[in-house]
Amino acid sequence: MSVGIEFLLNAHVEHAHAGPTLALLDYLRDRRRIVGIKEGCHEGDCGACAVLLGRPGADGVWVYRSVTACLVPLADVASCHVITIEGLNRADGAMTAIQRAIVDGYGSQCGYCTPGIVVSFTELALSAQRMPTRDDIRRALGGHLCRCTGYGGLLRAGDLIAEALGALSLPANRSALVAADLLPAWFDTIDTLREGLDPAPALVSEGVPLAGSTDIYTRGPAQAAAPERLRLLSREPVLHGIQDTGDGLRIGAMTTTRELMESPAMAAIVPTVASDLLPVAAQTIRNRSTLGGNIVTGAHNADLATIMLGLDATLEIVGSAGRRELALADFYRDATQVDLAADEIVAALHLRRDPGRRVNFERVSKRSHHDKAIVNTFMACRVVAGRIEYVRLAAAGIGARPQRLRNVEAWLEKRTIDQDTLGGALDRLGVDIAPVDDYQGSARYKRLLLRQLVLAHFLVLFGDAVDMEALTPEVAS
Ligand SMILES: Cc1cc2nc3c(=O)[nH]c(=O)nc-3n(C[C@H](O)[C@H](O)[C@H](O)COP(=O)(O)OP(=O)(O)OC[C@H]3O[C@@H](n4cnc5c(N)ncnc54)[C@H](O)[C@@H]3O)c2cc1C
Ligand code: FES
Ligand code: FES
Repeated sequence: MSVGIEFLLNAHVEHAHAGPTLALLDYLRDRRRIVGIKEGCHEGDCGACAVLLGRPGADGVWVYRSVTACLVPLADVASCHVITIEGLNRADGAMTAIQRAIVDGYGSQCGYCTPGIVVSFTELALSAQRMPTRDDIRRALGGHLCRCTGYGGLLRAGDLIAEALGALSLPANRSALVAADLLPAWFDTIDTLREGLDPAPALVSEGVPLAGSTDIYTRGPAQAAAPERLRLLSREPVLHGIQDTGDGLRIGAMTTTRELMESPAMAAIVPTVASDLLPVAAQTIRNRSTLGGNIVTGAHNADLATIMLGLDATLEIVGSAGRRELALADFYRDATQVDLAADEIVAALHLRRDPGRRVNFERVSKRSHHDKAIVNTFMACRVVAGRIEYVRLAAAGIGARPQRLRNVEAWLEKRTIDQDTLGGALDRLGVDIAPVDDYQGSARYKRLLLRQLVLAHFLVLFGDAVDMEALTPEVAS
């Protein structure tokens, strides 16, 4: 099944006629022979296929993000703006300041990873609110695998780009970036180009929901959905944005991991959210992956689901029978089933604000960044006069789904924080969990890991009340 899909591709309006589930990467390379964009893994892991994807944000302002085109369904770019490396080249054949920085920093050899990195450095320039730091540069490079040059040269290139940005008044508008040669001249005409674009296509309100596609497309586009049964959630405004509800937050299911990290409202509830989520995938994935997708997938090691379980989130579910609310803790029926009818979607998550709540997130993966968690855990509690009034302890990687550790919660609640209380909690950790041996580690290792991470919670949340050294020898047993 082919359909007409219109979008801006670099500086022209593209009229594609293709299957809506075709990956954007395959459309560009195979159908259009636009081959500056590279294919590596086709699973979101290497960054070779990065493009800039521009679309209006919740406030109507267009936002450009670096995304992996192998995980983007073609239909999802309708009425959007796709910019490939070809669009970032100057018309006169000279290099932009970003491309020159990579040459001057000795950041390229075979060049296979280079187009994707130019794209992500361009996003860095477009979104810089201040002079980028080394951490910002690392974040931009995250998810771009360079097999032959290594990252020293690319970090130097990033420093040169940061210096060029530092000479501007930031945030810089596109004209200033063009004048500084960080963008090619046609970027000045983007607003006019967008006027030639059809408005967003009509909504399809039934079919398989696709959010950021970073989970479902790793199984291959053909597995994702039959083309005629595609429901693009990006087109549904009610699923976007984070709103204050007075006593808490309503977080639209289409909120991306990056938006969560950058949300001041979310940081008021989880102060460390930006650093907590930094190891979760790479920026190219976090720019697309959504909260709703993470919750509904409920993978055995999902990160956002664990945090939301620990925050006692409630789901707002809508379907043909209307709207209902459900505690996230009741959503996962078993390893494969969730409490969601075929015609229902998760529209949002609701969080209650609790100024007295303390929270902590811990996570271990084999690589420190851009790797799925082996075990993660989130703890939330309220302590009054040395007594635990309320506690939620969630974890993933130790069973088929992210889950609450209810036996431990029941033990901790209403107890005074002392060595016996915390030691008793550690003793009860094994009751709720059923880890399995797999490629990430043995069941025994995961049990030990969970115990260590819960100890880390205690250290962060109650470290001033208990001698943690006294609890640790037991870990060796
Ligand atoms: C390279 C890479 C690294 C990753 N690393 C991590 C990691 O470290 N931690 C982690 O937790 N995850 C990770 N993921 C997995 C994935 O990015 C997340 O689970 C993500 O949040 C899924 O969201 P999505 O919007 O992309 O979901 P999609 O792929 O669009 O959808 C996933 C499933 O949920 C359904 N769905 C989506 N939204 C809704 C909704 N609102 N209502 C009903 N159904 C819905 C879809 O039909 C589909 O079945 C990684 C993925 C990749 C490719
Ligand atoms: S081809 Fe590797 S991330 Fe897309
Ligand atoms: S320059 Fe060869 S892979 Fe990066």
